Amino acid sequence: MTNTRTYAIIGGTSGIGLALAHTLAKRGDRLLIGGRSSDNLAKALAALGPAASGRTVEITDRTSLDRFFAEAPALSGLFTPAASYQTGTFRDGGIETSEALFEAKFWGQYRAVHAALPYLRDDASVVLMSGAASARPVGAPAYAACNAALEGLARGLALELNPIRVNCLSPGTTDSELWRNRPDHVREPAYDYWRKLCLVQRPATVEEQAHAALFLLDNTNMTGNTLFCDGGYTMR
Ligand SMILES: NC(=O)c1ccc[n+]([C@@H]2O[C@H](COP(=O)([O-])OP(=O)(O)OC[C@H]3O[C@@H](n4cnc5c(N)ncnc54)[C@H](OP(=O)(O)O)[C@@H]3O)[C@@H](O)[C@H]2O)c1
Repeated sequence: MTNTRTYAIIGGTSGIGLALAHTLAKRGDRLLIGGRSSDNLAKALAALGPAASGRTVEITDRTSLDRFFAEAPALSGLFTPAASYQTGTFRDGGIETSEALFEAKFWGQYRAVHAALPYLRDDASVVLMSGAASARPVGAPAYAACNAALEGLARGLALELNPIRVNCLSPGTTDSELWRNRPDHVREPAYDYWRKLCLVQRPATVEEQAHAALFLLDNTNMTGNTLFCDGGYTMR
């Protein structure tokens, strides 16, 4: 009989998801991680060592999610930061951009939890990923709405899936690959703007976000909640 816990992270091959994977691996937990790129997956698995296994997965595709979880052991937790999308204004952006955003970020995580359900232990913890624009939009209304919808989904799922706990992590701007892969002329002005908007005057680190996600995974009194790890952004 073993007490080893296994956590699934869809979007665990870079950024916040990978930072959480490192934290869990260091404390002796097992991991099942996924992302779309097999190269990124191979690099992440090499860095994490033997505690981790993984598969490529597309979070918007139910068949791919079923393949990802097939033969998974009983899971103590699920984290779903995987999403790729574009945002736009209401006046100038086509409705297709907003629909694609919901498809990628909202319905992707909805489908991921559904596909994981047969594998989640009764004492498992699910952490969804939204974003602090839910509470303080910055000019992309559908992005604000999508994040708010995910926070509502966490509350609704917490009620229905109890005793499985479900919470949402709502980050502010975070210095992950999502930003590092963008050109300097896009990233640096965005970081400067963020320094003025939040109280701690800097983007978060991926380790700070992983720490917040870990709290939601571990704290057995947290369910139906949204944790804003945003440097005070939503205070102003
Ligand atoms: N960083 C920020 O400033 C910030 C702020 C607020 C909210 N967020 C939220 O945080 C999440 C992104 O996390 P991050 O900042 O750590 O970004 P990241 O470093 O780009 O990591 C994203 C991870 O998700 C995977 N992924 C992306 N699209 C996927 C898809 N369709 N199917 C499966 N896997 C996919 C990526 O791997 P592949 O590319 O190989 O698929 C990667 O492992 C998003 O939900 C974003 O809205 C981020």
